[in-house]
Amino acid sequence: MSKRIPEKEESMITPKEVAEYNLLCRKYLTKWGYEAVIDCLVKEDILQGNIIDLGTGSGWLAIELIKKSKNYKVTGIDLSEEMLTLAKKNVRSIVDDSANIKFIKADAKCIPMEDSFFDAAVSYASLHHWSGNPLEVFKEAFRVVKNGGLIVIFDLKRAEKNLIFVKSILSKIMRELFEASLRASYTPGEIKEILSSGTFTKDWNIVENSMSLGIIGRVSK
Ligand SMILES: C[S@@+](CC[C@H](N)C(=O)[O-])C[C@H]1O[C@@H](n2cnc3c(N)ncnc32)[C@H](O)[C@@H]1O
Repeated sequence: MSKRIPEKEESMITPKEVAEYNLLCRKYLTKWGYEAVIDCLVKEDILQGNIIDLGTGSGWLAIELIKKSKNYKVTGIDLSEEMLTLAKKNVRSIVDDSANIKFIKADAKCIPMEDSFFDAAVSYASLHHWSGNPLEVFKEAFRVVKNGGLIVIFDLKRAEKNLIFVKSILSKIMRELFEASLRASYTPGEIKEILSSGTFTKDWNIVENSMSLGIIGRVSK
């Protein structure tokens, strides 16, 4: 497998790239990512409550959550002002009532929320951006999720066949964005190593589908 090439925490800053990324989410990520994350919540009986989406980007996972259930209250956080503006625009284009969803500019390594506020922390395609030690974000997620709550962090999976697939994407910008994200993503082995390193260790369940890998853990305090 080719070597991992990290991306910056905040990428895709030009308006054109942001717009193309928005299309890419709708075309590919709903199926590979958001559905897998939401399935985990449902299977683990998290059917209501406060959910935080870490690195929410254009907000589509957060939007899919409020479409799934009126009983979720979702907070999406992201470092990028451009992405948050797009997320708010996407919400307005999809739902009439946006009372159950809000977006905040914040770093997932230092979440501006009290301990144990959330029933679950979720994320898709952001983990590969978490520079330094990604475990810092897992630790923060653990802090803000209540006892018995759930952490569900999915990301793209760096695998040769996924890199080959990317070459079939027609739009040049979309292809380049997707390829950069895939190259920055982890293999299941790398994720296992990260999760077992450092002082913050836990029993994580690691799952895979064709394009993504997921890290799932119950919070016990
Ligand atoms: C590839 S996008 C994924 C966005 C979205 N979750 C999705 O599925 O489309 C990654 C996002 O993570 C955000 N991000 C990266 N590091 C972050 C951090 N430490 N805290 C909050 N957001 C972060 C980036 O700004 C970017 O919007």
